[in-house]
Amino acid sequence: MLVSTETVGPAVSPGHSFGPSSAPGHIHHEESYMSLQTRLTEAFDIEHPVVLAPMDYVADARLADAVTAAGGLGLIGGGYTDEPWLSRQFNDVTESVGCGFITWTLRGKEHVLDFVLDRRPAAVFLSFGDPAPYAPRIRAAGVPLICQVHDLAQAAHAIDVGADVVVAQGGEAGGHGIGRRSTFTLVPEIVDLVSRVSPKVLVLAAGGVVDGRGLAAALALGADGVVVGTRFWAAQEAAIPRSAQQRALHATGDDTIRQHVYDVVREKNWPKQYSGRVLNNAFVKKWHGSEDALEQHLPQARAEFQAAVADEDYTSANVIIGEGIGMIRQVDDAADIVCSMTEQAAAILHRPATAALA
Ligand SMILES: Cc1cc2nc3c(=O)[nH]c(=O)nc-3n(C[C@H](O)[C@H](O)[C@H](O)COP(=O)(O)O)c2cc1C
Repeated sequence: MLVSTETVGPAVSPGHSFGPSSAPGHIHHEESYMSLQTRLTEAFDIEHPVVLAPMDYVADARLADAVTAAGGLGLIGGGYTDEPWLSRQFNDVTESVGCGFITWTLRGKEHVLDFVLDRRPAAVFLSFGDPAPYAPRIRAAGVPLICQVHDLAQAAHAIDVGADVVVAQGGEAGGHGIGRRSTFTLVPEIVDLVSRVSPKVLVLAAGGVVDGRGLAAALALGADGVVVGTRFWAAQEAAIPRSAQQRALHATGDDTIRQHVYDVVREKNWPKQYSGRVLNNAFVKKWHGSEDALEQHLPQARAEFQAAVADEDYTSANVIIGEGIGMIRQVDDAADIVCSMTEQAAAILHRPATAALA
């Protein structure tokens, strides 16, 4: 691992909490190569500016532990606020990890948030819904609040309700989102917004970051770090069938699609503005754009879907991945993913400028 051991230059205080030591996204290059300290690593006292996306069920105690142990920040995927599952994860976890929630599923299940807050998570990560009803109890518990957003209005609202960290998610991302904006433009716009209205807030980039090129790009755009889903979905420790991973390793970004089909067939009642990026397959091709007809054929379609999930038949079962899958060709340990991402990004960011040839 090529992370800084000898740091020359302005010292970075470990464990510093959410203080603005520099402009958003400032990278502490200093004299030592391969150091990628940012405000995120300072605020959370972690080694690498890499956060595991709280992927429902996929990001369980094992994967979250592995990412934290590797020097990133592991988040358990609280997903649809499944209390028994969450309670098992928090019993099993050994490292300092946070927890994410699909915010609209928290309504009426506030006690699950309280259960998690009692476990002193490293952070609570809220996506997909208004964080306002939950922000005060998270802040009162002294737990950092991370809000994932999809546009500038949501970013401004997250800052208003007291988010410590705003995650700018582009439509390339795996899983749910709004999908109107792409990471490459949304991140710097939110970085600029934050530096204008609340410079102490950190900004992370989510969507399409699978290697050091993506991490370097995110930092160059002014982000303090990245939230990574798809790359860790293809980790050894991910709670996902091996057959799904093997199938996805042959896909390109072109083979993914944003759709509502699987929310209809799983009867998840997602608010309409959210679609989910998945691997395109025969089931999606059949029903995409015909969701009303799917509703009418729900019992048969649901039975077909459930049988496909049980059989690991991904012509009908869902594979939730982002466009970044096209750059992933093997399943690796989470630690290798974290370290190689950081090493590659550090090498890119430290690349010396060369004179142009005449
Ligand atoms: C399999 C999978 C499940 C996901 N589930 C959740 C979730 O439960 N809650 C959430 O906030 N985000 C979820 N996401 C989205 C991530 O938070 C994040 O925005 C996304 O993974 C980043 O893009 P990437 O997949 O290109 O890395 C999920 C993503 C994937 C790939």
